[in-house]
Amino acid sequence: MQGMNATLPTSLPPRSPPARGPLVIGTLRVDPPILQAPMAGYTNYAFRQIVRDYGGVGLQATEMISARSFDWLDRRAAEHPERLWGIGDEPRPLAVQIWDNDPQVLARVGARLVGEYGVSVVDINFGCPVKQVTERAHSGSYLLRDPRRVGQIVERVVRACAPTPVTAKIRLGCTRDQINAIEVARVVEAAGAAALTVHGRTAEDFFKGSADWDRIAEIKPHLRRMPLIGNGDLDSAAKVVAAFQRYPVDGVMIARASLGRPWLFRQAAAALRGQPVPADPTLAEQRECMLRHFELVVRRFGAPKGTLLMRKFACCYAQGQYGARQFRASVAHVNTPDEFRAAVERYFPGDESGGEPGVERAGHMPT
Ligand SMILES: Cc1cc2nc3c(=O)[nH]c(=O)nc-3n(C[C@H](O)[C@H](O)[C@H](O)COP(=O)(O)O)c2cc1C
Repeated sequence: MQGMNATLPTSLPPRSPPARGPLVIGTLRVDPPILQAPMAGYTNYAFRQIVRDYGGVGLQATEMISARSFDWLDRRAAEHPERLWGIGDEPRPLAVQIWDNDPQVLARVGARLVGEYGVSVVDINFGCPVKQVTERAHSGSYLLRDPRRVGQIVERVVRACAPTPVTAKIRLGCTRDQINAIEVARVVEAAGAAALTVHGRTAEDFFKGSADWDRIAEIKPHLRRMPLIGNGDLDSAAKVVAAFQRYPVDGVMIARASLGRPWLFRQAAAALRGQPVPADPTLAEQRECMLRHFELVVRRFGAPKGTLLMRKFACCYAQGQYGARQFRASVAHVNTPDEFRAAVERYFPGDESGGEPGVERAGHMPT
């Protein structure tokens, strides 16, 4: 089999969805078996709420949270990290991802997340390739070079969180020459994890090239009970269906493609059920979505910070669309809610026929 990009169709899904069992993560049934990935700086409460509103997502994840910072704040009875925004009240299921290299700290924080917040899943990050996490903190993907340590961490966190399921997210290895995902997967399973997500790149790859789904598939025969979740480059409903058809995964996880298209989960879920894929929302609906996202962010962070934070989300919404360059150039400079709304209204007009004459719309393809 070739790499994902080379082989997966990009248009209509096949008529019948692939046969597969339910995705069960410990005590949790994840239906549909399509997960929203953790993404630092993006998958905050506002984004999760937007995704949840569209539907089609079986399990959502927070941004990764530094267990050490959480622990430090917790011990001083200080306010918990900002990245935990919303987790107390939002609907379940919800996975919270944590990172560090100290089994004790991770276990303590896992137990707190379960005890105080009642989260559905505690996920441990063994995949982050960013220097601040790897070289400076010897965590994330850095730990892949030390499967024994990975096992100790998972084992401690599983014990601290029981019966709440604990999962792990990894890459294929540190470098192309050191691919050891099978070994790590076996260790993670033996330590009691309830599921494993594998991003089909190495840490060295960062985001270069295509995710190697053959390598993800190779892990499956080595697992006895732990579900395998494949991740990397899924950006359409058709690719999600094809992933289940071609690779022995129990679930899939979507990250980047959902940032500008939070309705992708709904489309993928329909395709998986063998139903017609719902069309992308109209331009007016996309505008409403973006403005709702903006309101949620501003309500939490206030107008100045919320507007700045929303710049990058707005760029994601416009990605791949005709006129996106102009929209991005415009939204990159907004400083106030009025400026933000004006940019959105200019490029995402409220009704399909409207809009400023002569202005290319970010959401419209040239005819
Ligand atoms: C901006 C950004 C932030 C990310 N943050 C995290 C993170 O906090 N934890 C994590 O496990 N992976 C993180 N990832 C990796 C994604 O979860 C995912 O594994 C990767 O993007 C591949 O999936 P995709 O091709 O669907 O984007 C991040 C990726 C991006 C682009």
